[in-house]
Amino acid sequence: MEFRGVGLTYPGPPPVHALRPCELSVDVGEFVAVVGPSGSGKSTFLNVAGLLDAPTEGTYLLDGIDTAALSDADRTALRGRRIGFVFQAFHLMPHRSATENVMLSMVYSAVPRAERRTRARDALRRVGLAHRFDALPGRLSGGERQRVAIARALAGRPSLLLCDEPTGNLDSGNADTVLALLGELHASGMTVVVITHDRDVAARAGRTVTIRDGILSEERAADAPGADAPGDGIPRADAPRDGTPQADAPRDGVHRPERDPA
Ligand SMILES: Nc1ncnc2c1ncn2[C@@H]1O[C@H](COP(=O)(O)OP(=O)(O)OP(=O)(O)O)[C@@H](O)[C@H]1O
Ligand SMILES: [Mg+2]
Repeated sequence: MEFRGVGLTYPGPPPVHALRPCELSVDVGEFVAVVGPSGSGKSTFLNVAGLLDAPTEGTYLLDGIDTAALSDADRTALRGRRIGFVFQAFHLMPHRSATENVMLSMVYSAVPRAERRTRARDALRRVGLAHRFDALPGRLSGGERQRVAIARALAGRPSLLLCDEPTGNLDSGNADTVLALLGELHASGMTVVVITHDRDVAARAGRTVTIRDGILSEERAADAPGADAPGDGIPRADAPRDGTPQADAPRDGVHRPERDPA
């Protein structure tokens, strides 16, 4: 993905410069962490990168395609083909099995139902849930639920996986499992961009991009906080985890545009 002077201003009043015009290239197969304080513009960045919101300035090229030139329908189709999303809240349908939840992501695709089931099960195997195909989300741990959500993101065979605080609702054990899974996906060639407050997540990524007051900047890896962290999974003093999984709701109350079809 390539941002050339990409910015987004919410019209207001007053206008909010949520993302100041910025340059960023992410190559195929990179693992990039996006960090920054609350309200700094991280989700705005992700929504633009994920073709959920169109930038108000600049040019965004995804796999070489100038996304500004696309109609709404073509943008939606491109998003469906190329991008998988994982959010902090898992957004699973409570009365549908793991397999059905993953299948629902393909409901608007041309994939026939039998093939949808096969693909859903392949994706669940890939995230280590082959033994939980028929489980309802309420019978799964938080980490397993997030793995179902990751399987759902993978089922469409995206080239880019965008994650907004994927470990934000998880205790440290489950967060480590999800983090290891993201590492495996990256190792298998997936391009992964992860918004995170979690130093272990940022430490695992090859690159860290910082957003502050809507201004995106990049430090060299050697300067990045946590770049040389031991990766031992021990929570750091400034990132305490109390082991209490949180409710299935975003902490920031920001509307998540990605919704399961009812
Ligand atoms: N739809 C909107 N209309 C107007 N302003 C918005 C809208 N969505 C977000 N903002 C503002 O844009 C800025 C960036 O918000 P954003 O959600 O990108 O922050 P964030 O870095 O993801 O924060 P958090 O870590 O709390 O999730 C904030 O000032 C926010 O209030
Ligand atoms: Mg956010």
